[in-house]
Amino acid sequence: MEDDGRSIGSEAVVGAGPPGTDPSRGASVPPPVEQPERLVAWQLIGQARACQVIGSPLYAHLLTTAAQDVLGGGPLADLLVPRVRPGRGDAAGLRLMAAVHRLVLTRRATKLATHFPSVGGTPDLGTAGATFLDAITDHLEVLRVDVERPCQTNEVGRAAGLVVGLLACSAITGLPLAIREVGAAAGLNLRLDHWRYELPGDTIVGDPDGEVVLAGRWRAPVPHADHGFRVVDRRGCDRNPIDPTTAEGRLALSASVWADQPARFERLGAALRTAARVPATVDAASAAAWTREHVTPAAGRVTVVYHSIVEEYLEADERAAFHRAVEAAGAAATEEAPIAWLRMEPSSELRHHAVSLRLWPHAPELRHLATTGAHGDDVTPR
Ligand SMILES: C[S@@+](CC[C@H](N)C(=O)[O-])C[C@H]1O[C@@H](n2cnc3c(N)ncnc32)[C@H](O)[C@@H]1O
Repeated sequence: MEDDGRSIGSEAVVGAGPPGTDPSRGASVPPPVEQPERLVAWQLIGQARACQVIGSPLYAHLLTTAAQDVLGGGPLADLLVPRVRPGRGDAAGLRLMAAVHRLVLTRRATKLATHFPSVGGTPDLGTAGATFLDAITDHLEVLRVDVERPCQTNEVGRAAGLVVGLLACSAITGLPLAIREVGAAAGLNLRLDHWRYELPGDTIVGDPDGEVVLAGRWRAPVPHADHGFRVVDRRGCDRNPIDPTTAEGRLALSASVWADQPARFERLGAALRTAARVPATVDAASAAAWTREHVTPAAGRVTVVYHSIVEEYLEADERAAFHRAVEAAGAAATEEAPIAWLRMEPSSELRHHAVSLRLWPHAPELRHLATTGAHGDDVTPR
């Protein structure tokens, strides 16, 4: 299910060994589940490295502290080891940090809050680790429940990568888009035509008045930028949809953002305000079955099924069934009713994330459109 950390800067972990080992030796191979403490520590330290790479020194520090605590038999061993999962543990590090951030955002961990910029704090890495472990001890019972919540980061910045493919679909087919997002979480990026994209060359696409502004994220000109794109229909699915219009939904989404990354909070806030006025259905359904029902050729529009950072969360059978469902829809496509499959997923070959496209009947072979960081930064179109 996991790619075992071969990608760099993935929302899930980069490969690494547990503290005290040389991460360059066998680092990307997780310890076996028969060594649960070592496996959990490997998961946490790998996520710590990803946080360091993507600009969250606070989470890098706290996750490293957590890994050391697990190896030392502290409260986090009690919390995480009995629930150990293979590979990257369904993003165990991110689930832990989202559960802790939830405590902070709901003012239940006031001392730790002083280190969390999301609530006005300033990190002091000299004392944050000890305060973090105290908060874990104080809230162990609630954390046992919250740490089981699945990783559901809904990162609006990823639209900077997806837009490269949407522009290609629009320009190649000359048709408006019916968008179908798989693993949409809260469906924030089902509103991605309402974001303002400030592309290289002073080109604006999307909504010029959009509250979500994506700027300075592309390292090269984006092909077909002048063409723009228009969305005429939108729908998504998630195994566990989040409603972004409820207080609980907003809390779940906020808790998933790394606390020392204010730009991501700003984007999330703008996306939540947009979501309150632009409806988008996210069906509670699994990828393959939903795709069979909702990804079908329709005349006069290009139906674009897309996903970002979802494939690693699909069980192998489900992933294969999902791929078959998209290919079956593609096989039924015509010039008047094309099907596109747009992906933004970790790529082991590129050691990065890749934006790729298949477009039936025009260009059914897989085309690599861009590389990108995990949160849609440093998008480099080909
Ligand atoms: C890391 S989140 C990414 C969310 C969103 N695509 C984004 O980039 O912001 C992965 C999402 O995949 C969803 N997911 C996992 N397994 C799924 C399945 N079998 N079918 C549909 N969604 C699934 C999870 O619930 C979660 O919301």
